[in-house]
Amino acid sequence: MKQTLFPILTLLLATRLLAADAPTNSAVQTPAAVGSVAPIETTAAREARLAWWREARFGMFVHFGLYAIPGRGEWVQWEEQIPNEEYAKLADQFNPTSSVTAWVETAKAAGMKYIVLTARHHDGFCLFDDGTNEFTSVKSAAHRDIVKEYITAARKAGLGVGLYYSPLDWRFPGYLSPNVHRQSAEAMRDQYHRQMEELLSNYGKIDILFFDGGEADWLSFGGDWKSAEWKKRPAGQHYKGGFSWQHDKVYNMIRRLQPQVIINGRADMPEDLHSREGDWAGGNFDNQHPWEHCLTLAGAWGYQKTAHPKPLNDCLHYLINAAGRDGNLLLNVGPAPDGQIDPAQAKRLREMGDWLGKYGASIYGTRGGPFLPGDYGVSTFRDKTIYVHILKWPGDKLVLPAIPAKVIRATALTGGEAAVTQTEAGIEISVPAANRNATDTIIEIQLDQSAGAIALTEVPAAKK
Ligand code: GLC
Repeated sequence: MKQTLFPILTLLLATRLLAADAPTNSAVQTPAAVGSVAPIETTAAREARLAWWREARFGMFVHFGLYAIPGRGEWVQWEEQIPNEEYAKLADQFNPTSSVTAWVETAKAAGMKYIVLTARHHDGFCLFDDGTNEFTSVKSAAHRDIVKEYITAARKAGLGVGLYYSPLDWRFPGYLSPNVHRQSAEAMRDQYHRQMEELLSNYGKIDILFFDGGEADWLSFGGDWKSAEWKKRPAGQHYKGGFSWQHDKVYNMIRRLQPQVIINGRADMPEDLHSREGDWAGGNFDNQHPWEHCLTLAGAWGYQKTAHPKPLNDCLHYLINAAGRDGNLLLNVGPAPDGQIDPAQAKRLREMGDWLGKYGASIYGTRGGPFLPGDYGVSTFRDKTIYVHILKWPGDKLVLPAIPAKVIRATALTGGEAAVTQTEAGIEISVPAANRNATDTIIEIQLDQSAGAIALTEVPAAKK
């Protein structure tokens, strides 16, 4: 393992200085440039295309690949600087025995409505058939087209089907220094275009494409060369070299082959949804630009032997907070080398499903609002019903601001009697202490008119 990537890195460090001064090339793709070739779609048509995904609210992210074998996360090759040839040997051991239908069953049991599987991560190993390319699960010890099996199983179960794909591939020095290793960068681009065409043509309908590492600002290594840290280029220091991913061609191909597919925004293409990433990175309320919060259920994205699932309460709060901010939650599992989701993680997911079995009406098919998130928690609504999710009681009662609609009925979904009074000053809610729910006290409020017509309203913090 002493034979690391460092010799390459040192060479690239020298070339990076040259690369930084490379002339600007107008062929560099920008979202605006790509947007100009995109087919025109009305806002209403776009909303209709995304409607199923908005209603779904909750999906499963699956990171699976060779990195499951060492069990130290999906960045193991980069972080431990494992040479390509050595890492590639893992394919001889890659032989998951369990069926992917177990992923689908677990997702269903969790109340998830779609799955996004890593068709190919940064290490370049494909979980699909890529013709003569040897570095795939089809040519590994497993001899399995995992993408195909997964899509067949997920479709059968009625779940939405998503694929994660990384245009960048660590095996190509052209990724690290596209200005110097231009041929390598172009070979990597050819691979990207070819593999996208395969994924979009050979597996039936694809519902979601989750790109990662395809933005020009990830090119040419924005991080610190002395450590293995890899960062996006800092704001204002855009990649200005001459290499282009030619995402416009891919984008046109996507729209031709899979007109309905929903695309996240990490490949400098017009985005349908925005990815927010990491623990507590749920961010602000936004009901204008569709977004999804992705994070891991346990440790790294790829399998980590030592990782434990997050507490149930945290998992549910991530979901409730996403819905109340008008976004989705994509919760990740990294199956073990045999393909199984760690039993403790599968159990946690089933517990989430149990909660959704009881209170799913307050999450699925709702939109965030009309009360904006605050110290108290969040609110969601559907038609004439508002669900107030009280995650933290401000005191004896919660006071919501006045709204121009009449409260007809109010019920505590999580048990007990809710006392709800509407005055000109606002809506007061109280529930006996014994009936407050430690995770979320949900109050269902029926109005005399559509909650969607009510303007979004801040909920002032309770006076101390
Ligand atoms: C990051 C990581 C990657 C992971 C992804 C999930 O970009 O590089 O390993 O797959 O986030 O969103």
